[in-house]
Amino acid sequence: MGGPALANTEHRYGWIAIVLHWSMAALLLGLVVLGIYMVRLPDVGYDREKITLILAHKALGMIALAAVVARLAWRLTNALPRFVDGLAEWEQVSALFVHMWLYALMFALPVTGWLMSSAGGYPTPVFSWFNAPDLIAVNEHLFQALIDVHRWLGYAFAAIIALHSAAALRHHVALKDDTLRKMLPGA
Ligand code: HEM
Ligand code: HEM
Repeated sequence: MGGPALANTEHRYGWIAIVLHWSMAALLLGLVVLGIYMVRLPDVGYDREKITLILAHKALGMIALAAVVARLAWRLTNALPRFVDGLAEWEQVSALFVHMWLYALMFALPVTGWLMSSAGGYPTPVFSWFNAPDLIAVNEHLFQALIDVHRWLGYAFAAIIALHSAAALRHHVALKDDTLRKMLPGA
């Protein structure tokens, strides 16, 4: 058996799903770390570093939103590789449940971030390419609420990523099955 094809097969993920999975994993983990770091910087006047990092966080977050739209479209129109043989029913159900939550949060985080910026009256520039349009009118009460929602969704996302990664590593290291290899480029 050679390396992966472009598309998924019944037995493994293909190149497109692999590149989307690992590049988005890096981007999303980076966004969580950046988010937590930047909000803890001192809020003195027009602190340059803080503003620069928030703008980078917003632009990268909007790119993550575009990427997850493409990824979900690919997933829904492509074969879904089967789980490795011998998984208990609760394991299959848990894996699908966790994947569903990962998708829900990959959408909910950028959307709440974008809504938050709109409600706060702040623009959402995507680097210097273009400004994403405001989704809702300025509303100070909603702005404060959305900051909390975005924060707690971010923490929940980190927890679910940890669970998902621990499960993948358990399959690879303890159970020694092909679960992780299905998502890796090798043969
Ligand atoms: C998948 C994408 C995203 C992830 C994983 C993410 C994650 C986070 C996290 C973990 C925090 C820190 C929360 C805290 O500790 O208080 C944060 C803060 C923030 N995020 Fe995001 N974010 C994403 C997308 C976006 C987008 C698209 C925008 C805006 C367009 C945005 C705007 C903000 C802002 C303004 C803050 C600071 C809020 C404050 O002042 O407390 N985020 N984000
Ligand atoms: C931000 C981090 C991550 C996110 C959002 C994420 C998301 C997902 C999603 C949604 C799937 C289902 C397939 C798909 O529709 O693309 C998946 C599959 C998978 N992920 Fe992740 N993942 C992340 C990090 C990781 C890490 C760090 C590992 C390994 C330690 C990992 C290992 C796997 C494996 C092995 C599969 C295939 C499971 C199977 O079908 O049997 N993921 N991931």
